[in-house]
Amino acid sequence: MNDTVNSSPDTLTIARPDDWHLHLRDGETLQAVIGASARDFSRALIMPNLVPPVTTAAQARAYRERIHQALKGSGVSTAFTPMMTLYLTETTDPADVVQAVKNGDALAVKLYPAGATTNSDSGVRDIERVMPVLEAMAEHDIVLCVHGEVTTHEVDIFDREARFIETVLAPLRRRLPSLRITLEHITTAEGVTAVREGGGALAGSITPHHLMINRNHMLVGGIRPHYYCLPILKREHHREALVAAATGGERYFFLGTDSAPHPRGAKESDCGCAGVFNAGNTLSCLAHVFEQAGALGQLEGFTSHNGAHWYRQQPASDTLTLVKSNTPRTQDLMVRVGDDEIVPFDPGVPLYWQVA
Ligand code: DOR
Ligand code: ZN
Repeated sequence: MNDTVNSSPDTLTIARPDDWHLHLRDGETLQAVIGASARDFSRALIMPNLVPPVTTAAQARAYRERIHQALKGSGVSTAFTPMMTLYLTETTDPADVVQAVKNGDALAVKLYPAGATTNSDSGVRDIERVMPVLEAMAEHDIVLCVHGEVTTHEVDIFDREARFIETVLAPLRRRLPSLRITLEHITTAEGVTAVREGGGALAGSITPHHLMINRNHMLVGGIRPHYYCLPILKREHHREALVAAATGGERYFFLGTDSAPHPRGAKESDCGCAGVFNAGNTLSCLAHVFEQAGALGQLEGFTSHNGAHWYRQQPASDTLTLVKSNTPRTQDLMVRVGDDEIVPFDPGVPLYWQVA
């Protein structure tokens, strides 16, 4: 008997996934989107780019409390733990960061180059000015999460990640080799290579959308604003490098959805916002990608082990089961927020895997 025929499993049980990069926003948007993450994920690393940004331990505690309140109103009964980040500014005090992490008010610190993305104006213009914070973080083994793009006007938007790796990350690594850095939402072959050569001091998070679509999906045959995100989608060979990294069982690559809700009106606009709201169908998307790569067995490492290990956490003790059905999953419903709505990620292909 040829047991390769019909041998692909149609259920898959894994430790409950974590999302190591999530935008939950605040207020009524937070209330509207929290369920999409809480349903499937055990924990998430919450991005601090609110207005005003979450820069202090007190702000992180207050924001976490608002997330807990929103969870209560979400109707989701499984446990979901938000883990907080502090937004690094040029006036951040090193001692405050160390204390916040010691007290459990934050797990990591987020570096936005000023002007790189949504609400990054309070970010870092001159890395020299945050060196004392970074030195203290290296000393206390606190992870630095970076949005790895240069913001110089002369640099083409498609080259901004590669240029950041060359001109900002590499010198920083030489100066502070023991600082552990998450290169967030990597989008290029250069990002993959940097992490592989990072000697255990670099990790890379990868989004579902960068694994599924390239810049043609966004720009050919009409412009699709709901695929616009930062770092921007790249060429197909970069997507292929990301898929190889995610599905290859390498421990320094893990899931960060970068789920980033914006109202439809702010996306479909003369000057549309960057961000893809993918939290609700991330696991269906990933099971599809990993199955296509013949690597379903590596899914759990990517979603549930590697990131936990990097952030020095135990993997979740409960599980999540994915089931492959004969009929595709229907596209997620719009999420209402006030008079507007948030459009969920449409990967453009039928998804047969669903969370049980
Ligand atoms: O596409 C993005 N959206 N990239 C980011 O870096 C930020 C995010 C947001 O907050 O909207
Ligand atoms: Zn983000």
